[in-house]
Amino acid sequence: MVPDEPVAVVTGANGGIGSIVCNVLSEHFAVTAISRSGGPPRDHHEVDLLVHCAGAFDQGSIGETPGSAWQEIFEANLFDVVQTTRRFLPALRKAQGRVIILNSTAVSGSPANKAAYTASKAALQTFAQALHQEELENGVRLTSLYLGRVATPMQEKVCALEGRPYDASEFLLPETVARLVLGIAFSPPDAHITEMEMKPAWRPSRVPLSARQLFDKQPENPRSVDETPLVTAYQG
Ligand SMILES: NC(=O)c1ccc[n+]([C@@H]2O[C@H](COP(=O)([O-])OP(=O)(O)OC[C@H]3O[C@@H](n4cnc5c(N)ncnc54)[C@H](OP(=O)(O)O)[C@@H]3O)[C@@H](O)[C@H]2O)c1
Repeated sequence: MVPDEPVAVVTGANGGIGSIVCNVLSEHFAVTAISRSGGPPRDHHEVDLLVHCAGAFDQGSIGETPGSAWQEIFEANLFDVVQTTRRFLPALRKAQGRVIILNSTAVSGSPANKAAYTASKAALQTFAQALHQEELENGVRLTSLYLGRVATPMQEKVCALEGRPYDASEFLLPETVARLVLGIAFSPPDAHITEMEMKPAWRPSRVPLSARQLFDKQPENPRSVDETPLVTAYQG
């Protein structure tokens, strides 16, 4: 470790996003990588950055999801985050450090058939809001990052459970998330980025056609545009 090098702690360090976040941060920070297969993390007197990249996903209706699955998901997505944050909070306060929590755009979508995941991320949102407010006076700045789909092993699992093919090119790259994390870490000292949302960029092949475009594609259609039902279809 280079003397006076800032310290970053990253959870889920073996994961799709966490591993890249560790790589990108290691150019600027002494990184303590926390993973389930690694030993207990070393303690630090001061921590400049804590990035929560650990998390778990499962899918299923409430009727078919056993209590044990809810417990596992809440363990990964909430309780571990609470525990790790509390563990490093004194060191974060000393350094007036930043905390970045990876949350999901799922919190603002339909929770049906993924209630355990969505509920755990909604609880994480509440935790983050409380931490944000409580730690302002201690100089600890928290950022919640709400991500759309990212090309990682977790997304492969999501696609498999949804019964659709996994095509990484449809999703955000973990490198893009890591660059955003770095940007937040190095945002000017007068800035507190409290929340950000990032989704995969718009791509023409996935854009719904408007009713007018649908109608134009079928010139033999005798009905007027105004009568065209307001349905959407996907190209390709
Ligand atoms: N990928 C997406 O589309 C997406 C979208 C929105 C938000 N996110 C969020 O981004 C974060 C990272 O996701 P990812 O895509 O990188 O997932 P990933 O590739 O599956 O990695 C998740 C990591 O979390 C660790 N983990 C799982 N359960 C854990 C537990 N109970 N305790 C401690 N660690 C645990 C895993 O450890 P092991 O390596 O030991 O299994 C793994 O390293 C998650 O919070 C996820 O909810 C992801």
